[in-house]
Amino acid sequence: MAIRKIVKLPDPILKKISQPVERVDDELRDLADDMIATMYDAPGIGLAAVQIGVLRRLLVVDIAKEEEPRSPQVFINPEIIWSSEELSEYEEGCLSIPEVFDNIQRPAEVRVSYLDRDGKPHETRYDGLMATVLQHEIDHLNGILFIDYLSRLKRGTIVRKFTKQARQQRENV
Ligand code: NI
Repeated sequence: MAIRKIVKLPDPILKKISQPVERVDDELRDLADDMIATMYDAPGIGLAAVQIGVLRRLLVVDIAKEEEPRSPQVFINPEIIWSSEELSEYEEGCLSIPEVFDNIQRPAEVRVSYLDRDGKPHETRYDGLMATVLQHEIDHLNGILFIDYLSRLKRGTIVRKFTKQARQQRENV
């Protein structure tokens, strides 16, 4: 397992659409294991493949609390097939947009179809934090970031800040 570099705003790859996984094989499982190691190292509770620069429809999630045993889950080709009308609100952040947090409303419950790391299909209903994390991560596969739900003014301020930081880092190399 290797810890990969996390792609940060304003890298344009974050706005790209990820491609479906065609085969669940050892190469894909190795990629998932790298993503899990990268997520724990960050630390974060979810990571999409695009966040390490790989445009494939693959996510890893682990919402276990610090004192609980780790339980990483792999979602391949995840798709939201139903969402509740009822909304819930969580303060969201993103490993690609460090130190930015804001309250986002999303459907409180979702039903998600996906393949697990053995390629076995599932259809599962999620609520609470897991529903929010899965929606946030599936958005990544479609080039959508949580800041896209904020006002244009707020989003513009965040993007400008990260663009400036990236420019300064390039100049300091
Ligand atoms: Ni994110």
